[in-house]
Amino acid sequence: MNDSSSNNILGFDSASTTCCDVVSQPMILPYPLNVLIICNNNSIEQGLTAYFATISNIQVEYCTLLPSSLSNFSLVLLVLDDNIDTAKHTIEKFSKQEKHFLLLGDNIKSELIRLAIHHNVKDIISIADIEKELYLSLLTAANDLINSSKIAPVFTIINGKSGSGASFITSCLGEISANLTTEEIAILDADLNYGTLTDTFNFEPNYFITDALEDLDQLDNTAIRSMMLKRNNLSFLASKPYTLLNANPHLLERLPQLIWKVKLNHDLVLIDLSRGLETHSNSLISLSDKVIVVVQQNIISLREAKVLIQQLTTNVGIPAEKLHIIVNRHSHKGNNISIKDIKNVLDVESIFIVSNNYELANAGINSGSPILKVANHKIIQDEISHIIREIFPLDIPDIKPSLFTKIFRRK
Ligand SMILES: Nc1ncnc2c1ncn2[C@@H]1O[C@H](COP(=O)(O)OP(=O)(O)OP(=O)(O)O)[C@@H](O)[C@H]1O
Ligand SMILES: [Mg+2]
Repeated sequence: MNDSSSNNILGFDSASTTCCDVVSQPMILPYPLNVLIICNNNSIEQGLTAYFATISNIQVEYCTLLPSSLSNFSLVLLVLDDNIDTAKHTIEKFSKQEKHFLLLGDNIKSELIRLAIHHNVKDIISIADIEKELYLSLLTAANDLINSSKIAPVFTIINGKSGSGASFITSCLGEISANLTTEEIAILDADLNYGTLTDTFNFEPNYFITDALEDLDQLDNTAIRSMMLKRNNLSFLASKPYTLLNANPHLLERLPQLIWKVKLNHDLVLIDLSRGLETHSNSLISLSDKVIVVVQQNIISLREAKVLIQQLTTNVGIPAEKLHIIVNRHSHKGNNISIKDIKNVLDVESIFIVSNNYELANAGINSGSPILKVANHKIIQDEISHIIREIFPLDIPDIKPSLFTKIFRRK
C-alpha cells in the first residue's frame, strides 16, 4: 500500500524531480483525448484507472483485443505481455490506421522496439515509469493533435453589470460574424437562469445545454452539429429556464467537455455569460481565448466592471491581454465619461464602442433577430463589424454579402 502522502498511485518508484514536478501540477490536457487501452493484465488496468482519474480532459476505454476500427480514438496505449506475435500484428494495424500509439511494458524485446519505432510509436514507457512519464506523453499527443486539428477559439461575453447588454452584443456579434463569413459560428446561451437568446433569435428549441450534458458521452461530431439549432452558418445551443435551480450541479461540471466538443466542430464559439461570474462559469472563462466585458458609460456600471475585472485577473487568472471592453449604448453627447476615462479606470488596453440604438431601446425587448433590429442602424452594424474584424480570427472576404440578402434568405 502506498504512503498516503505519496502520489505514486501505482506503487512504483517515483523518486525523481520530474515526477514531482508533473504530479504537483493539476493534470489537465489542453486537448481532449479519447484513449483506447489494450491490456490483459488486471492489476495494471486497475492502476491505470486510478491514474487516469487524476487527469482532466481524457476519456479512457479498455479492451483485451484490438477492435476492428479505431476511428473513435485519438490515441491507443498497448500494454505489452509475453505474446510478441500479437503485439507485432497490433502495431502494424495501428500503423495502417494511422493511429498515434504508446507502448507500455518491461523488458521489451529489441525486435518489438525496432518495429514500434519503424511505425512511429509516440513513446515506450516502462511500468515503473508510468507515473512520471505517461502524463508527459499524453501531453505531447494532445499538443500534436492541437497542431493538426481545427479548433475554434472561444469568446465569452460577460456583463460588467446586469442589463448592460451582453446578450444583445453576443447576438449581434454572432449574427454579423455569420453574415461576414462562411465559417461556422456557434453561440451558447450560458445564462443558466433565464437565457434570452432563444427569443432574440426567434428559435424554438427542444434540446438544451442540460440535455447535451446528459448525452455528452454519445455526442460524436455528427450529433454535436445536429443537436444545435441552425440558421445558415450560425448554430445555437439554448439553456432551459432555471437550469441552475433544477439541474444536478455535477452535470454542470461537464460544461468544459461540452465546450470542447463544440470547439472541435465549429470555427468560432461565442458564449453569453450575461449573469457574470458564478461557480459554473469559472471553468467556461478559463477555457476562453478572449473575454469581452460589456459595460455602460456610467459610474455604477464602471464600478461593478472594475470589481469583475479584478476577479477575472486575480482570482480566475485571466491575463489582461485576453480582456476586451465594449462600451455599450455609447453616446458622445450628454455624457462626461470619455473612452479615455473608461480605459484608465478599468486598466484594459482594448476597448470598443457600440452606440445606443434609441429606436431599439424604445421598442423594448421585442423578439426577432438582432440583425433585423440593427439592420436599419448602420452605425451599430459598422461598430460590430469593426470589432469582429479587429478581434475575431475569421476569414472574412473583402466583398461582404449583403445583410439584406441574408435577411431575405431567412425562413
Ligand atoms: N446598444 C443598444 N441600444 C439600445 N438598446 C440596447 C442596446 N444594447 C442592449 N439594449 C437593450 O437593453 C436591454 C438589455 O439588453 P440585454 O438583454 O442584452 O442585456 P443583458 O446584459 O444580457 O441583461 P441580463 O443581465 O438580464 O442578462 C434589451 O432590451 C436590449 O434590447
Ligand atoms: Mg442577458
